[in-house]
Amino acid sequence: MPVKIWKAPQPRSPFAPNWAVPMFVGHWASPQRVAEVRDLILAKEDEIKTQFDPVPISGITDGLTSRWHAFNVFTWPEPAMREMADFVTRAYWEYLDHLKIDRQRDYIQGWANVLRESEKLTPHAHDLTERSYLSGNLCLSAEHTETKYYPPYVYGAELKVDQTLDLKNQPGNLVLFPSSVFHETSPNRTGRPRVTIGFDVFLDDADSQGRSAGDGRHILFDDPQGSDRMRA
Ligand SMILES: [Fe+2]
Repeated sequence: MPVKIWKAPQPRSPFAPNWAVPMFVGHWASPQRVAEVRDLILAKEDEIKTQFDPVPISGITDGLTSRWHAFNVFTWPEPAMREMADFVTRAYWEYLDHLKIDRQRDYIQGWANVLRESEKLTPHAHDLTERSYLSGNLCLSAEHTETKYYPPYVYGAELKVDQTLDLKNQPGNLVLFPSSVFHETSPNRTGRPRVTIGFDVFLDDADSQGRSAGDGRHILFDDPQGSDRMRA
């Protein structure tokens, strides 16, 4: 079952840390499509970099990650991208089903990360507001890197590495997690790019970082009242 409830150690006192974070770890078993999506991102990288100015984020000062706010890979029309969106949608529905959470009208915005030798994403969370919903990442190519997720408690006023849930970045792997969960990646130690897609799902057509549908960045992701186009 791809849904795992990541829990605090069994509390031995009524006041001990007691948390549970639902994590989804799935796999897109289409290596051909995974490679196509990776190649599309690499082919568009220079154009996106020319088109938009970077906004430094999570230790990255240039490249696609720092332009996360300016494009949305879920709007790309290529067949491989449509299949990627279908796969993410089905995984999202499975996650909700398992947790017995009703589908709601929501929006998605996704970007690409191309991290080259020695680059890494420093600890960050995507949304700590009261509207925080879900985020995810889909690995397209990576060698010997992992993403570390931090528990929702700060121990000793810092994020402690020995408390993390470490998930290997394997091509095709998809992780869905609450947007409030802090995470980071280990550095790329190879000469080949580590390519992933990151995304946020919002219940409202706005978000804390100022991205909005008005800018053409968000698109409707799921609408339980609307047509089930993704179910085909
Ligand atoms: Fe992230």
